[in-house]
Amino acid sequence: MPAAMVVSGGAGAEGKTTVYVIVSAIMAAFGGLMFGYDNGIAGGVTSMDDFLEKFFHDVYEKKLKAHENNYCKYDNQFLQLFTSSLYISALIFSFVASFLCKKFGRRLTMRLAAVFFLVGALLDGFAVNLPMLIIGRVLLGAGVGSANQSVPLFISEIAPANIRGALNILFQLCVTIGILVANLVSYFVSKIHPYGWRIALGLAGVPAVMLCLGSLVITETPTSLVEREKFEEGRTTLMKIRDTANVDTEFDQIVHACELARQVKDPYGKLRKRPSRPPLVISVFIQIFQQFTGINAIMFYAPVLFQTVGFKNDASLLSAVITGLVNVFSTLVSIYAVDRAGRRALLLQAAVQMFISQSIIGILLLKDLKPTGSLGHTEAIIIVLLVCLFVMSFAWSWGPLGWLIPSETFPLETRTSGFACAVSSNMFCTFIIAQSFLSMLCAMQSGIFFFFAAWILVMGLFAFFLIPETKGVPVDDMIERVWKKHWYWKRYMQDEDPDEDQKQSKLEMAQSSSRS
Ligand code: BGC
Repeated sequence: MPAAMVVSGGAGAEGKTTVYVIVSAIMAAFGGLMFGYDNGIAGGVTSMDDFLEKFFHDVYEKKLKAHENNYCKYDNQFLQLFTSSLYISALIFSFVASFLCKKFGRRLTMRLAAVFFLVGALLDGFAVNLPMLIIGRVLLGAGVGSANQSVPLFISEIAPANIRGALNILFQLCVTIGILVANLVSYFVSKIHPYGWRIALGLAGVPAVMLCLGSLVITETPTSLVEREKFEEGRTTLMKIRDTANVDTEFDQIVHACELARQVKDPYGKLRKRPSRPPLVISVFIQIFQQFTGINAIMFYAPVLFQTVGFKNDASLLSAVITGLVNVFSTLVSIYAVDRAGRRALLLQAAVQMFISQSIIGILLLKDLKPTGSLGHTEAIIIVLLVCLFVMSFAWSWGPLGWLIPSETFPLETRTSGFACAVSSNMFCTFIIAQSFLSMLCAMQSGIFFFFAAWILVMGLFAFFLIPETKGVPVDDMIERVWKKHWYWKRYMQDEDPDEDQKQSKLEMAQSSSRS
């Protein structure tokens, strides 16, 4: 889930908690809840027999056969497509939405996201066949893509600077709460036959309605209005949301920031230049690594995984609730630790803990879970504990930091485009995991856990050598205080004159004025 980007708005604002600030917090909460709920609910319903019998009869039959291969019970491309289609659609829509945000504003994009969410939840809740089910997921994905672009932008432009960071973390925390709620809902509705899964999928409509109502009462952000040259409206809106007529300084900052942004004609071109390499490489790789820890193999498929190791349906859904709780509480640890221990300490500690837990899970399964038969009760419980250790370390490190670091390392002119690259890398890797995990589990068996462990080893080394500490560094001081001092990345800062672009745009302006 994307964290709020630090943009121009709110810089000089008094930290008044006006109704607009409260609404922006609520929007952040519902945006995060929606995303988390959709992440978590697929795993719950794919383990429900009524759901499988209706849409995935092959999988249901395989599951019923006592001697069917443990690791392959759920291997079905369509079943995986049910989970993954959301992410491919979110990937595409995050680019569409970044265009809509710029051209038509944040408010319209958020309204659109809410409508996508609502229609998607309705289609899924009332699905009578597989296409309807998948189209519902695709629409939810369009909602996720649109909301993940517009909500963070909206929040960072509306909120006063002093609470922007807190809202950023609130969004991430709500993602984990959304996953937990999805796990709880799955646990309870799995007992309602034959349509418990309909309730689980349809309930996604509740936060969607809230998001809908919220997007009806909110105002457009002053930055968006100025960006679209509606200066007067921008100023009056700013006075309204700050609840004061004294907004000159902040308004001038917004106008100035928009002018600067306009000067950068091609932010994606600028991203390809050498000085952009360090933040770009780090932001994209942190997202790839985040997904290849195997976190979403657990988040999406925990109930299925726990059934694979031998739990009955109920016990496996309950175990998913436990891992969901661990996820929420460990995110709170991150809020406390991130500005005290620093980013690197968290990333490195977690890499060690995740490597150990994934490896031991692999060893236990390799030793004792043969294609037929199941694990002993004690061993199955040990697996759940190891999964908790894994989720815990992810949740206080690579989970939130995967979003925080990309939002704070880019300079202003490439911040939005750089962040969009990070979001889409995340969605793409999430899609790959969702679409292939069950097949990989079938093909590689316990080896899949060693596969994730190997990725974790690589990412630990990557963090050790290449991710610099950004704790306490103001976002606009990154180049001087971080990149130019880093043992490796400093070479990217020296080769090119950083003022080159400014000189270029001054030259262009001089040429055009001499022409006129
Ligand atoms: C990741 C999601 C994941 C969630 C788990 C987020 O940081 O981006 O893919 O499902 O953490 O809490």
